Amino acid sequence: MTRTESHDRKQALDEFIKAMPKVELHLHIEGTLEPESAFRFAQRNGVSLDFENVEALRRAYDFENLQSFLDLYNATMSVLCTEEDFFDLTWDYLARVAEQNVVHTEIFFDPQGHTRRGIPFATVVAGISRALEAGRQHFGISSRLILCFWRHLSEEDAFATWAQAQPHLDHITAVGLDSSEVGHPPEKFQRVYAAARAAGLKAVAHAGEEGGPDYIRGTLDTLQVDRIDHGIRCFEDSALVHRLIDEQTPLTLCPLSNLRLGVSKNLVSYNLARMLALGLNVCINSDDPAYFGGYITENLLAVRVAQDLVAAQVLTLGRNAIDASFLGAEDKAALHRRLEAVAVEHGFGPSG
Ligand code: HPA
Ligand code: ZN
Repeated sequence: MTRTESHDRKQALDEFIKAMPKVELHLHIEGTLEPESAFRFAQRNGVSLDFENVEALRRAYDFENLQSFLDLYNATMSVLCTEEDFFDLTWDYLARVAEQNVVHTEIFFDPQGHTRRGIPFATVVAGISRALEAGRQHFGISSRLILCFWRHLSEEDAFATWAQAQPHLDHITAVGLDSSEVGHPPEKFQRVYAAARAAGLKAVAHAGEEGGPDYIRGTLDTLQVDRIDHGIRCFEDSALVHRLIDEQTPLTLCPLSNLRLGVSKNLVSYNLARMLALGLNVCINSDDPAYFGGYITENLLAVRVAQDLVAAQVLTLGRNAIDASFLGAEDKAALHRRLEAVAVEHGFGPSG
């Protein structure tokens, strides 16, 4: 292939990345709060932010590590007060990713970040769910909602949140675990996860983002999750890597997040191509796109460039996300057909 042909091929692949029907599985809805919206909500609710204006808040999006991000993330979500706020936040996210051809999304929310400020659990779920339903009708985006427990809080707190969730379980598909990882191992949440699984919910958990391989192993053994969120630090333990391959545990990777929080030095040394070559079940997601400089398409484009991915690898990422979702078999099959059709249209079909 000449240099020009190779350049054209990369451009065609980027066009395919933009056009491909996408599934997002690791997205914190509070992490879609753009600075402009934060000020809009603050103003209409009479809440003050510690920043003078939008630019000053955006300048603060320069993080040293997970904790420095969480401090700002937890403080900024205090502008979300009413059902309308949660509706608007979720609607704005859906409108944005509809343009990126997201067709299915499974979103986290952090109820403890709201109930601790006196916002009822019902208000949060009502606003988010109403927007998800409107998004289904207006954009054709299907969705699932995942209740995340904050791991820096106690087991008792998690159980109190689980009790508040009971009248709303028809809106909630799974439980998750997020916030500060180190010092808050998965074992602390074994009983609340058992209760959620007994009630028929699916389970996911952040592990191996800030914490080492022990956190991933503990999550698999004690929480019996369907997916691991992040899991990027699995490479520090080769037996664990083999287990993840054997069990085909989905890992929901978030490259721009890992870059911005210093989990990865850069995206060239990111282990994505290696993970794909080993047959790990990985997919690409945006985590907290308002804070980390990109939604799902920007994440995919960034790793395409840094890892010099080819079409077959991009397709594997897309297929993995469909299969790792909580959709039923028929919906998954329909999404696979849509993905393959767009690949063919872009010259990346079976013989492309
Ligand atoms: N890690 C842990 N907790 C979080 C994150 C994350 O990336 N985003 C929002 N809460
Ligand atoms: Zn996350």
